[in-house]
Amino acid sequence: MNDLLKGKKGIIFGALDEKSMAWKVAEKAYEQGAIFTLSNTPVALRFGQLDELAKKTNSTIIPADATNIADLYDVFEKSMEILGGKVDFVLHSIGMSLNVRKKIPYPELNYDYYKKTLDISAISFHKILQVAYKLDAVNEWGSILALSYIAAQRTLYRYNDMADAKALLESIARSFGYIYGREKKVRVNTISQSPTMTTAGSGVAGIDSLIDFTERMSPLGNADAVDLADYTVTLFSDLTRKVTMQNLFHDGGFSSMGMSLRAMHQYNKSLEVDFPG
Ligand SMILES: NC(=O)c1ccc[n+]([C@@H]2O[C@H](COP(=O)([O-])OP(=O)(O)OC[C@H]3O[C@@H](n4cnc5c(N)ncnc54)[C@H](O)[C@@H]3O)[C@@H](O)[C@H]2O)c1
Repeated sequence: MNDLLKGKKGIIFGALDEKSMAWKVAEKAYEQGAIFTLSNTPVALRFGQLDELAKKTNSTIIPADATNIADLYDVFEKSMEILGGKVDFVLHSIGMSLNVRKKIPYPELNYDYYKKTLDISAISFHKILQVAYKLDAVNEWGSILALSYIAAQRTLYRYNDMADAKALLESIARSFGYIYGREKKVRVNTISQSPTMTTAGSGVAGIDSLIDFTERMSPLGNADAVDLADYTVTLFSDLTRKVTMQNLFHDGGFSSMGMSLRAMHQYNKSLEVDFPG
């Protein structure tokens, strides 16, 4: 299907390199006819490859730390100027935990890092929503999305304080989604994505085992970043106008599984190793 986003304008936060979920979304949104601006931190702009994506998608980069309200005003104001009016979609694809990076276990969290995790990975979503709302920067029936993970509902070994950030992120989508829907007919959702090998993903200890486990458990297999981009485009499009305040699992069925044939097979093999003969 083509031109699903024809005439739509947007802002995409969080593309770092070609593995990034936001990168794949930008490519797909461009393919489907959207125009948009790209934003990331000045550090990410120095070390990432965002220039390449901007060239490819004909878009302008606006640097911003998503925890900084003044920066966010700048992104929204400049985006409306560049794109010639209000936007129709916004992607929040932002996450970072210093506790994860520094391998500090959950019972021993560093609280300064913990606050940063919540600010960068969850409260920044509230800030984006607040700035968009105050500037009335999003058209009616617009769509604002953030990316989440099932650790918001279930405990996954070593996901650490990012689990708390994702729980907050999903709650913000519901709380703000009610008000934004009621007042401006703007929808707000989160997509809960399969584990994916990106820069943020590879920072999660044991990501390889996690990806293998969820692959075996999911009847459709893991969703990758390109699958995510396809799904995101539908949620930015007019085909999903009444979907709001939802956390939408995009995980090949993992979230509804308890045990699968493939996982049991693997588990049995390890039992044989544990108790030979
Ligand atoms: N990779 C996975 O397994 C997975 C699974 C589910 C959800 N997610 C979520 O998807 C989103 C995107 O992550 P990704 O996997 O594409 O990795 P990524 O590392 O490519 O993207 C994370 C982005 O966050 C940006 N960022 C960090 N601090 C920021 C700040 N202060 N202001 C603005 N931007 C900042 C980084 O520069 C980077 O571009 C994150 O919210 C992540 O938690 C990832």
